[in-house]
Amino acid sequence: MSLRGVLVGCGFFARNHMNGWADAAGAEIVAVCDLDPAKADDFAGTFGARAYTDAAAMLAAERPDFVDVATTVGSHRTLVTLAARHARLVICQKPFAETLADARAMVAACEEAGALLLVHENFRWQRPFRALHAALPRIGTPHFLRLSFRHRFDVYANQPYLAEVDDLALTDVGLHLFDVARFLVGDIASVHCRAQRLNPRVTGEDAFLASCGHVSGAVTSIECSFYTTRHPEPFPETLAVVEGETGTLALGRDYRLTLETADGVETIDAEPPLPAWGERPWHAVQDSVRALEAHAVEVLEGRADPQPSGAHNLETLAVTLAAIRSARTGQAVDVADLLREG
Ligand SMILES: NC(=O)c1ccc[n+]([C@@H]2O[C@H](COP(=O)([O-])OP(=O)(O)OC[C@H]3O[C@@H](n4cnc5c(N)ncnc54)[C@H](O)[C@@H]3O)[C@@H](O)[C@H]2O)c1
Repeated sequence: MSLRGVLVGCGFFARNHMNGWADAAGAEIVAVCDLDPAKADDFAGTFGARAYTDAAAMLAAERPDFVDVATTVGSHRTLVTLAARHARLVICQKPFAETLADARAMVAACEEAGALLLVHENFRWQRPFRALHAALPRIGTPHFLRLSFRHRFDVYANQPYLAEVDDLALTDVGLHLFDVARFLVGDIASVHCRAQRLNPRVTGEDAFLASCGHVSGAVTSIECSFYTTRHPEPFPETLAVVEGETGTLALGRDYRLTLETADGVETIDAEPPLPAWGERPWHAVQDSVRALEAHAVEVLEGRADPQPSGAHNLETLAVTLAAIRSARTGQAVDVADLLREG
């Protein structure tokens, strides 16, 4: 029998969630909910689900196996805490939380209720990063990572609320990049960060440069900008270089992944597949949502642990908050100190 899921928040990005769930083997979304009845009805009609405007009423009536929370960050604590009491798995979109207190409350609520918690960190589920991760043993112990996400795509057209987010680049995309850095190279111990406000149309800082020291001794440089003109427009691609003891892996434009060693250069296939409902150049993002949802089914079936779990993502939030503090003070910030502060 198919696993029964419900989705909360029928907004811009949730359409990818719903298309992805329609592709998921072994799971289906039986009901959707939005405060705006027109949005809930639209999703329900398009995807064949029941519509609600109240999450508590939906959860009580539907008794789902899993809840997919696709709302913006301000509602996460309330919705995740509620969902934990009604389902075996809660999936929460990023940013998981704005504060460590909120993140801790959600992790605790899920633990107390015996529910699993998976954060929708889909960058680490992008095909190029999976291919890069799989190839890491071929370059020996990594000592350097560079991630570059620089573009001028008008993200404010689909997500107008972003124009008023403080620390925009760090909280919208920075946390994805910190998660990828942890996925590829391991935990981050300290961060030094400089942020810039480049686009006069937005309130928050829309670019940053972060230097991370990993527990392993490796270092990572992260360069992110929402105000960089290139042609062709690179959005939504992330470029990456990982240097290891015996080689370098480089992820370039058009998902070209190369392995460079003393013996020469090998090209590795990292092109994301195009979902039947997808469209270039969004396919890397669309396929990553589908991959994360396939992973959620594995988690529900007991075949995998959440990647990343709420507890893991709480530490990625701490890295992000450390970067914000560093950008304000000009000092490097120790992630463990920040976690100890509460
Ligand atoms: N992982 C990614 O690649 C990616 C990409 C884009 C957006 N996002 C994230 O997805 C989240 C949603 O972004 P969006 O652009 O789709 O936002 P949106 O504003 O378009 O959609 C959010 C929807 O949630 C609804 N909602 C809010 N509180 C609710 C509640 N208590 N009950 C029911 N419905 C509620 C709103 O009415 C709205 O329709 C954000 O946190 C954003 O950062 C992630």
